[in-house]
Amino acid sequence: MAVTTQLSHPPSLSKTRTFAFSQNPFLETPILLFSRTKTCPKPLKAVLSQNPANTLTQETTPFKHCFTKSSDGFLYCENLKVQDIMENVEKRPFYLYSKPQITRNFEAYRDALEGLKSIIGYAIKANNNLKILEHLRQLGCGAVLVSGNELRLALCAGFDPNRCIFNGNGKLLEDLVLAAQEGVFVNVDSEFDLENIVAAARLAGKKVNVLLRINPDVDPQVHPYVATGNKNSKFGIRNEKLQWFLDAVKAHPNELKLVGAHCHLGSTITKVDIFRDAAVLMVSYIDQIRAQGFEVDYLNIGGGLGIDYYHTGAILPSPRDLINTVRELVLSRNLNLIIEPGRSLIANTCCLVNRVTGVKTNGTKNFIVIDGSMAELIRPSLYDAYQHIELVSPAPTNADISTFDVVGPVCESADFLGKDRELPTPSKGAGLVVHDAGAYCMSMASTYNLKMRPPEYWVEEDGSVAKIRHGETFEDHIRFFEAL
Ligand code: LLP
Repeated sequence: MAVTTQLSHPPSLSKTRTFAFSQNPFLETPILLFSRTKTCPKPLKAVLSQNPANTLTQETTPFKHCFTKSSDGFLYCENLKVQDIMENVEKRPFYLYSKPQITRNFEAYRDALEGLKSIIGYAIKANNNLKILEHLRQLGCGAVLVSGNELRLALCAGFDPNRCIFNGNGKLLEDLVLAAQEGVFVNVDSEFDLENIVAAARLAGKKVNVLLRINPDVDPQVHPYVATGNKNSKFGIRNEKLQWFLDAVKAHPNELKLVGAHCHLGSTITKVDIFRDAAVLMVSYIDQIRAQGFEVDYLNIGGGLGIDYYHTGAILPSPRDLINTVRELVLSRNLNLIIEPGRSLIANTCCLVNRVTGVKTNGTKNFIVIDGSMAELIRPSLYDAYQHIELVSPAPTNADISTFDVVGPVCESADFLGKDRELPTPSKGAGLVVHDAGAYCMSMASTYNLKMRPPEYWVEEDGSVAKIRHGETFEDHIRFFEAL
């Protein structure tokens, strides 16, 4: 059965490159321009084509997805041919995002939360691109952090610390001190974590707003690697220990202020009644906590909403479905709802764009070998996760359709992006994308086999393409050994 695995310096920003797709209404094919920051724009040969499918659906469909295969057989990101973008970037593979899709995903949560006091805390671990963080912050997101460096990055991106939540089962004292200084919410995960938070508060000379991360023991029905809300997980406090934690908070009135309760059930969850079951339990814990005189205002139900990785058109719960299952509970207790989405905000906004290096067979299995690999995108190897794969342009008319494993060049048999995929036999050099690569792909990328981390680009609202992160280089690697 298919597993439900749907499953100390900020980067230099000085030289954002922008591809301006200027559209002359009198030309059938607008011209692609290339410019480096403010310096002289250089015309490039490539040509941009409008996606007929997008033009048709825009007015009638309320929810628009950024990547569409048009009737001309080409894949488009918003209105741009991915093929054209691929031919004009300096390096492949690369991550390609749609900025408008990030906005649309945020708006789906914002609209769903109307009428509730709430914080949308974007889980930075899903994707820590600074440009993306700045965009989400401008839209109104708070941030969910799991390390001191994620907190530093959130501050660089301009997030309001009062809308940030620091999570983790092994938070370090020095990171907790920073969190205390900055005034971010901290989730208490264990007895020793509470001790460290008290110590951090004393060192910072500041009282810390804490939430208790309670393990509700609800099975999220997902791959074991991404399940966190069941009893055997390493995260959170045991619910039967709640009183011990309440007494410990009471014993530290100068260091801790209890403001709420938190849970996070797991990731890739595709049934909202799981969130509802957990929220019912959490609200009863909040009742117990309030009964002891604590003025707690925040219910944090974590992240975890799944997305349609399979591209089968299955109707999955939306942010609105999620919020509606807990809305009455939240209102009934006059709570401020914190949610911590990562994947459902960012995963579907991006593809990893690769080039086919060649096609081979071992007699029993066919392989499409691409330039991308488990180094750039590890989810299929690590969780056996399915991410949809397709070619960016129409295959030659005589191309056979076969079943392929799509693999990279890394020296490991675990290096695959997809198994048993039915695809037209691509020509050498053809573009091939791995979809839904916005979450836990670049942020989990490595330099294994010295495949350096790829550059990232996004398509902007005006149809221009901008580089939002430089690709890493061999020279970056050598720098770690300088002056030793
Ligand atoms: N809050 C907490 C406390 C979390 O641990 C996580 C994710 C989130 C929020 C965000 O969850 P999301 O909405 O993104 O599902 N690397 C795995 C996913 C690990 C998720 C870990 N926790 C993957 O590639 O699927």
